[in-house]
Amino acid sequence: MHLDIACIPGDGIGPEIVEQAKKVLNAVLAKYGHTIEYTDTLMGGCSIDAYGVPLTEETLELCRSKNAVLMGSIGGDAKVSPWYKLEPSRRPEAGLLALRKGLGLYANLRPAYLFKELADSCPLAGKDGGRNFDLVIVRELTGGLYFGERYTKEIDGVMTAVDTLSYNENEIRRVAKTAFEIAMKRGKKLTSVDKANVLDTSRLWRKIVHEVGEEYPEVELSDMLVDNCAMQLVKDPEQFDVIVTENMFGDILSDEASMITGSIGMLSSASLNESSFGLYEPSHGSAPDIAGKGIANPIATVLSAAMMLRYSFGLNEEADDIENAVKKTLADGYRSADLMPADPEKAAGMIGAGCAEMGDAIAARL
Ligand code: IPM
Ligand code: MG
Repeated sequence: MHLDIACIPGDGIGPEIVEQAKKVLNAVLAKYGHTIEYTDTLMGGCSIDAYGVPLTEETLELCRSKNAVLMGSIGGDAKVSPWYKLEPSRRPEAGLLALRKGLGLYANLRPAYLFKELADSCPLAGKDGGRNFDLVIVRELTGGLYFGERYTKEIDGVMTAVDTLSYNENEIRRVAKTAFEIAMKRGKKLTSVDKANVLDTSRLWRKIVHEVGEEYPEVELSDMLVDNCAMQLVKDPEQFDVIVTENMFGDILSDEASMITGSIGMLSSASLNESSFGLYEPSHGSAPDIAGKGIANPIATVLSAAMMLRYSFGLNEEADDIENAVKKTLADGYRSADLMPADPEKAAGMIGAGCAEMGDAIAARL
């Protein structure tokens, strides 16, 4: 197979982690007799520097013309970067939101599972001697507060800011379908997360999710309020299989879910539309504080590349191979700085590895 993809290295640690993901992709594809071509393009802060806007029409068109987009991360340090002196609609994050919207990527899959090799890094106390969870958050990605009307203005002499939260039934139905389909391929358990005790959008969300659920009688569907879900994720993450939720709740819960895996540097993501097209990016940000130091953890991006092979190209064996190589790398003791145990006794047996060494170690284990 020939894979023709767009690639957005982005800002901060983005270019470093994408380089490692390409290294691993090149190695696995060569092993199975496939070829790949990357067309690199700018988005985020680097695009502002080059073109004055975070996302150009050309970049959006380029991404549309390919089968998939592999992305690093975008944005900078809001306290010092000139990008954050621009009006909000011209900042790096606006480029990412416009890209997601422009490509129609309404379903964002964020798997969070605990590698047994990293059980010590899980901040949660062990249950029966150890944690063992494996869940995926399906986050609605092109609606809700992120895309509602917003403004800040003086009303009756008082500065007032407004953000609008709206969902229509079609937006809810399509992402619910994606979540049920994923649940069918996994443990057939779906938790729909909302705030139906307060919000109208959540009450509609719940109604539509249950309507869609009638088409999936094998899936055990339950509802959970978002505040309770935040608590349950730290109390008992083992109870979850698939979680489906709206954009803002999903943003927050997925950071929480990633942290209980030991590091946000482990969490991959796939953003999908109704076809096999997808944008694949780590769930973490651009970490400007460590950019250029060669110490970033590339695993989330490498695992995002594996998701790309699985979801956009149907290359399941190749994706498994990458995931197993990551496991072996961890089992062999390789640890990037974020994964290194704080306890010196536990750290003693580990191999400290920079970004490129992690990429080499994974590629060598395919
Ligand atoms: C994420 C990020 C983005 C989001 C930011 C960078 C706009 O936090 O992908 O989770 O809020 O969606
Ligand atoms: Mg986020």
